[in-house]
This record gives sequence, structure tokens and C-alpha cells, in this order.
Amino acid sequence: MNDTILEVRGLSRYFDRGLTPAVDHVSLTLERGKIYALVGPSGCGKTTLLHCIGNLENRDGGSIRYAGKAPEDIRSWPKFRREFLGFVFQFHYLIPTLTLQENVESALQWSGTVPVHEKRARSAALLETVGLQHKKDMFAENVSGGERQRAAIARAFANAPDLVLADEPTGNVDSKTGAMILDYMKEYVRNENKTILIATHDPDVEAIADEIIPMKDGRIRSVSERS
Ligand SMILES: Nc1ncnc2c1ncn2[C@@H]1O[C@H](COP(=O)(O)OP(=O)(O)O)[C@@H](O)[C@H]1O
Ligand SMILES: [Mg+2]
Repeated sequence: MNDTILEVRGLSRYFDRGLTPAVDHVSLTLERGKIYALVGPSGCGKTTLLHCIGNLENRDGGSIRYAGKAPEDIRSWPKFRREFLGFVFQFHYLIPTLTLQENVESALQWSGTVPVHEKRARSAALLETVGLQHKKDMFAENVSGGERQRAAIARAFANAPDLVLADEPTGNVDSKTGAMILDYMKEYVRNENKTILIATHDPDVEAIADEIIPMKDGRIRSVSERS
């Protein structure tokens, strides 16, 4: 089996008519079964890179392959996103008028083969992982920003995507919850042979990463493998 889940070559994204090279000829290879920490100062291009990888932002140059597949060969992006990619954004996008549990379950609504009771059990277990079991029936609009962020994390993992793109996932939570989230991510990657790319400033995230990807001024310097 090919262990490469994502291959990025010479990816560039410029803003302000080319004056701001947010992402500048970035190349990366991500393998299955690993956690990668994308680290670098604010404004160095981490969010833009994640958005380009998730095809939420156009590219100005370069190429991307998802488990060998080119973006042009993906016929339905909504379907591909549902099955292959999970996102944790810096700003959560929960549906305010659904409960936290319903928000997490919404990620499973297309999994026709999963019985309803299993969807419910899976989303409840995920909410417990992020310390929200007692708030699962509250509406998203009635919980705190940090709680919404945690529910968004649970939702990102609900349909067991191959590649999760997480933008500062622990930036907004207390250290106990942060530790729970990181434990969950470690187990997810190990047990299910999945991959997570985390943009972060958090030293605790760097500590659990298999590889650190240092970014500066839109470029990646060198990928250092941990021993
Ligand atoms: N939509 C946009 N329009 C113009 N400039 C942008 C836009 N998004 C990001 N940038 C610029 O691109 C650079 C990288 O930003 P970003 O990817 O958000 O960095 P990071 O996530 O590392 O803080 C910054 O200079 C930022 O101001
Ligand atoms: Mg950012």
C-alpha cells in the first residue's frame, strides 16, 4: 500500500496582485499514520496553506495529490471532502440552532450505511472525548466559544477522514481539554492509520507531533524527523 496521503509540490498562493506571497513554492509529503505540526510566526502562511490543501482557496501555482489523486480528477468535491478530509478551523462553523450532538451527527448524515443509533453513539463518544458530554443537548448558540471549538473538533473526526487539517485546534481551550484533544488525536492516528496536519503555536502539540514542519515567510524550511 502506498503510504503517502498527501503530496504538495511547489504550491504558491499570492495576495494583493502578487505582492504578498502568503504561500511560496511549498513542497510537502505527508504519510499515513503520522501527526505533523506546522509551526511558525503569525502571518507566515499556515492558514492559507491549509486552505489551499483543502481546496478552499485557489492555488496560483504548484500541484497537489491526495493519495495519488489530482484535484482535477475529483468529480464531487463535497463528497470527497466528506469522505477524505476533516477540517478544524480557527473559527468554528457550527450550526447555531442545532444542539452540539446534532452538529456532530450532521457530519454523518451522508453515511447511509451507518445506522442511526450508531451515529448517535459515535457522536456522543466524540463529545465525551472533548469533555462536552454534559452539554451535548445544548444549542450551539448557547455555549461558549471554547465549547463550540471543542464540538467542531468532535465533528471534524466524526466520519473518520483520512486527512484532518486542524488550524490552531488547542488555541482556544484550557490545558486539561487541550490534553484530552491531543490524546484523542494520537489514538486516532495510531489506531486508524490516519494523518493530521496541525497548524499551531502550542508547544504541547509540537511535543506529540511525529514531524515538525517549520514555516517562515510563506516557505517551508526543512522537515525534521523526530527520533
Ligand atoms: N484573503 C486574504 N487577502 C489578502 N491577504 C491575505 C489573505 N489571507 C491571508 N493574507 C495574508 O497572507 C499572509 C499569510 O496569512 P495566514 O495564512 O493567515 O498566516 P498564519 O495562519 O500563519 O497566521 C499574511 O501576510 C496575511 O496578511
Ligand atoms: Mg492562521
